[in-house]
Amino acid sequence: MNKIVSKEHFSANVVKLEVEAPLIARSRKAGHFVIVKVGEKGERIPLTIAGADTQKGTITLVIQAVGGSSKKICDLNAGDYITDLVGPLGQATHIEKVGTVVCAGGGVGVAPLLPIVEAFHKAGNRVIVVLAARTKDLVILEDQMKANSDEVIVMTDDGSYGTKGLVTNGVESVINREKVDLCVTIGPAVMMKFVSALTKKYEIPTVASLNTIMVDGTGMCGACRITVGGKTKFVCVDGPEFDAHQVDFDEMLMRLSAYKDIEKK
Ligand code: FES
Repeated sequence: MNKIVSKEHFSANVVKLEVEAPLIARSRKAGHFVIVKVGEKGERIPLTIAGADTQKGTITLVIQAVGGSSKKICDLNAGDYITDLVGPLGQATHIEKVGTVVCAGGGVGVAPLLPIVEAFHKAGNRVIVVLAARTKDLVILEDQMKANSDEVIVMTDDGSYGTKGLVTNGVESVINREKVDLCVTIGPAVMMKFVSALTKKYEIPTVASLNTIMVDGTGMCGACRITVGGKTKFVCVDGPEFDAHQVDFDEMLMRLSAYKDIEKK
């Protein structure tokens, strides 16, 4: 069991939890994730590690309440325990100096994007972050992104903050004014699909961090399988990051919605 040390609300439905996990804090790298379970029969949910404090032996998780299980985690408070927490899982982000990197995040995809932004910036890249949200209240981690990048562009669907428009409008505005060497995108699958289509048009290498349904997280159950470049891959062990231009996003979207009716019930 892992103790929750602190809790912070980013918005009504998004919370940040700092959780005791000293071994994971020490070995995690940008891009790694954990699988958490609340309650003996709880659902197993993959969550990217948004940060870690090796001194305190804690990791940071950002969770959006979208269904029953994520709500259960969001309802936990400092002093409560997460029943199971396993990780770090997946492959770490490949970080190198490439030049200018645009990091495009939407919704809670912004949280797992933060350690990637930090890592690319530390490696000496010019890092431009495009943060997208439906409305002003849902924009998270703007200050933390500013502290770890060269520029932050905020896009909101309703124009209540930053520039009115989609994440793709923000990314394209950067592409139109300067050379972009790499794009990293994390967010809802449909958002990553359109960012990928945009950067493909401009032939900019793009990495997408995928958030499929997962069960074991160790490559055995097949729940997270996707098709990349015509080959079956498991997001939990081969990913979560893939060449976005090779990902079959339509198949991924179909598989993500497979349990929608049951989830609603
Ligand atoms: Fe089971 Fe990836 S979660 S194979």
